[in-house]
Amino acid sequence: MERFTDKVAFITGGASGLGEKTAKDFAAEGAKVVLFDFDAENGKRVEQEIKDAQGEVLFIEGDVRENESVQNGVQKAFDTYGPVDYLIHSAGILKDGMIHKLSEERWNDVINTHLRGFFFVLQACVQRWIDICKENPKDEIAEYPDRRVITISSQAAEGNIGQLNYSAAKSGMLGMVKTAGLELIRYNIKTHAIMPTLIETPILGELLSKDDGKWRKYYSGRIPLGIGEPKYVSQVILFLCSTDSWFMNGEIIGINGGRLDKV
Ligand SMILES: NC(=O)c1ccc[n+]([C@@H]2O[C@H](COP(=O)([O-])OP(=O)(O)OC[C@H]3O[C@@H](n4cnc5c(N)ncnc54)[C@H](O)[C@@H]3O)[C@@H](O)[C@H]2O)c1
Repeated sequence: MERFTDKVAFITGGASGLGEKTAKDFAAEGAKVVLFDFDAENGKRVEQEIKDAQGEVLFIEGDVRENESVQNGVQKAFDTYGPVDYLIHSAGILKDGMIHKLSEERWNDVINTHLRGFFFVLQACVQRWIDICKENPKDEIAEYPDRRVITISSQAAEGNIGQLNYSAAKSGMLGMVKTAGLELIRYNIKTHAIMPTLIETPILGELLSKDDGKWRKYYSGRIPLGIGEPKYVSQVILFLCSTDSWFMNGEIIGINGGRLDKV
């Protein structure tokens, strides 16, 4: 049975990796999917693949670091499919560097993509959602449309060598989720963060293949269930948007492959 028929999911970073898999899984379960990504080539590829599988999809080229781009993208999504039901913030980059060598530019780029970008997409959706609630006030919270926000943090939020910028952004998201959870539940908007361990996607670049597979071996050895596949993340995101998690709000969920120590 399809869980998301006629629902609308807005997915930043939908052109690759975890966002792509989540978009495909949502579409396969009946959702209308909006892919918001600055990678037009892959965005169009994923859009076509979802269409080929009879899914409903719209690719919007845009940059989460730019508020105007986000506002235009979210407005286009609302104009095309009606109100968005689920916001998934999956846009992300890595620009690692040890503290003494980390440039201001690399610091800013990572903070702006993950953290500022989350602020912009969250605000753009929430502004429209609250307007809808205010136009049609209800006596009970549960009578408002059931909305969800899921942002992808990381196990690196707890610290990781070479990732000062990334761990700052990913742990910052956790505070945002708690605040949004407190602030938005009055409108039946539930907000969660997930913290995946290492999942094999393009963001890792050459990491797993370089040095004769030394790093693949290293990480495989540190994650009891091995390096993850995107479906392990998308399945949790879909659960957090489903009616099965209706009574949950402001949760931070590890997707850790059995690994409980630090990264
Ligand atoms: N893969 C992992 O091991 C892992 C683990 C924990 C958390 N994460 C997080 O999951 C999220 C998704 O990562 P992924 O593994 O799918 O990576 P990915 O590189 O496969 O996908 C990221 C997507 O974000 C898009 N993007 C980047 N900056 C953007 C911007 N400014 N505006 C719009 N789109 C932008 C990219 O074009 C790309 O399509 C990221 O936030 C990442 O930090 C990944």
